[in-house]
Amino acid sequence: MAVQKVIEGIYYVGSRHWDRPIFDELLELPKGTSYNAYIVFGSQKTALIDTVDPCKTHELLRNLDVLNVKEIDYVIANHAEQDHSGSIPAVLEKYPSAKVVTNEKCKALLIDLLEIKEDKFITVNDNDTLSLGDKTLQFMFTPWVHWPETMSTYLVEEKMLFTCDFFGSHIATSRIFGPKDEKLIYEGAKRYYAEIMMPFRKNIQKNVQKVEELNPSMILPGHGVIYKNPQFIIDAHKKWISDDVDNEALIIYISMHGSTKELVDYLSDILIEQGVHARPYNIAEASLGEIAMDLVDAATVVFASPFILAGVHPKIIATAYLANALRPKTKFAGIIGSFGWGGKGVEHIKSNLANLNVELFEPVYIKGKPKPKDFEQIAALAKKIADKHREIGILK
Ligand code: FEO
Repeated sequence: MAVQKVIEGIYYVGSRHWDRPIFDELLELPKGTSYNAYIVFGSQKTALIDTVDPCKTHELLRNLDVLNVKEIDYVIANHAEQDHSGSIPAVLEKYPSAKVVTNEKCKALLIDLLEIKEDKFITVNDNDTLSLGDKTLQFMFTPWVHWPETMSTYLVEEKMLFTCDFFGSHIATSRIFGPKDEKLIYEGAKRYYAEIMMPFRKNIQKNVQKVEELNPSMILPGHGVIYKNPQFIIDAHKKWISDDVDNEALIIYISMHGSTKELVDYLSDILIEQGVHARPYNIAEASLGEIAMDLVDAATVVFASPFILAGVHPKIIATAYLANALRPKTKFAGIIGSFGWGGKGVEHIKSNLANLNVELFEPVYIKGKPKPKDFEQIAALAKKIADKHREIGILK
């Protein structure tokens, strides 16, 4: 809630979702999120850029009332997903002469998802412009950030780029230009990238380049804060989307009777002694969001599981499935664990890593409690990981 001026004639009319616990019913939001909508008053026409999640429609409508908006000519839909488009029907009801301006793909999705009538749309092509009188909107197609129809809207005279999900961050704050502590902004944006954008890294590379060439004065996303210094968030994305990885090994594990944990603890110790930054996550309690964020840059990921129900633990399979769907740029992977009387499952983990372009180390599976020879195998794995990190130049 609460209207805020961005610059003269342009206002924030979105909504903060301070206590939303989880996004896409999947990953945690420790700092909440926001659904950013902006109204642009031209000398002749008024445009609303994106709307808000349907659960916050009342806040958007109140914000428009606070500004005494009597007429909206255009509702720009940069993206069809409901956290930005879901209030369009309510806006059209309140402002019946408004038209929804978007591209053909987004129009088709909005008809499917929200049952908006065909005659309510004006469709645009890449680089088309729309005059508001003294202000001009230009549409820049930025597909696959993170749906096929995503686009950005550029306010030509002010060089302001409204990017919707692209460059978004999961943070709810009343400071529309962000808190003073840039680390909070960086982490919110990295969490957002990890959870939503990472699978589309190659498409994002092209779109980041387009935005950098445009050199906007301000980037105004649909989630989180507005960037008055766009280079900050462009540079952050350039690191995440590059092929470079960090000297880090994530160890995603679960242990029922302690044997797998003993292996994990030993692997972590030897990795650290070898100079690799190890980060074990007990998936029984760990945050999937934190794991996703670490997957953005980690060179290596190791899955560690005991056998249960004649296979590896279902929570490890679920996490491998998620990692596979997120398609991180991880270069090396390992599988370790302990079994009691038998079982199969290593192949099950492997088959869930098919999207990862990784070199897989020989799995280390031991029987029961680890013995000295088992620790030797784990030490050898740690040394192999360190050697690989050295080979690609991330460990000196
Ligand atoms: Fe923020 Fe793709 O929705």
